[in-house]
Amino acid sequence: MEQTKKKTVTVQIERFNPDVDSAPHDETYEVEAEQSDRVLDLLNRIKWYQDGTLTFRRSCGQGICGSDAMRINGRNRLACKVLVKDLGNHIRLQPLMGLTVVKDLVVDLTPFFAHYAEVLPYLINDERPPATERLQSPAERERYDDTTKCILCAACTTACPPFWANGKFVGPAAIVNAHRFIFDSRDRGAAQRLAILNERWGVWRCRVVLNCTDACPRGIQITDAIEQCKRAILAENV
Ligand code: SF4
Ligand code: FES
Repeated sequence: MEQTKKKTVTVQIERFNPDVDSAPHDETYEVEAEQSDRVLDLLNRIKWYQDGTLTFRRSCGQGICGSDAMRINGRNRLACKVLVKDLGNHIRLQPLMGLTVVKDLVVDLTPFFAHYAEVLPYLINDERPPATERLQSPAERERYDDTTKCILCAACTTACPPFWANGKFVGPAAIVNAHRFIFDSRDRGAAQRLAILNERWGVWRCRVVLNCTDACPRGIQITDAIEQCKRAILAENV
């Protein structure tokens, strides 16, 4: 059966330990892999049996927590969602671009989450709550359904050339999470968020490169969401 067929895969990993290295360097590992293995399985095997100093993030192993985004053969992907059978026998793993490398495949996500916080990613509504829940029609819920799927993995923002050029750009992930509330009929903070997105480092920095949409493991139509925010800013004249 194909599922049980094993092969030896060369895994080339960009390593960097700030305590001893002045620059990143690659190290390679030969790993036995099954067709059904994911890249995360190979990383675990390397760490557990070959080199315990290898550092990477992971938690759920199911594409839910967003911890293990990295460059896999040059493209931003979650290690737990990419199957070895879909890659060649030589796999190159590198940290996400545009953020400082803490160690090996771990980057400092502080600026990423700071941009997320900038767009006020929570429900704003000071009106007296109704006796029961705040009702919403299926059509109103559908309006922002796509952007509720974000798992904050940072794959989009770190695939974005304008973000590489200047980390002040709020980035696609923050815009996705602004969209999630701007188009929520229960929310009253849209004008506030649109004003933030209309600032110098907001949506107008997007050059529609589409890398973000390609990188998103949740299949969110990020460029559409950004365009909707741009149109809302123009319509609101904020
Ligand atoms: Fe990750 Fe997609 Fe959310 Fe960007 S929009 S942080 S790629 S889940
Ligand atoms: Fe949680 Fe991959 S380990 S998304």
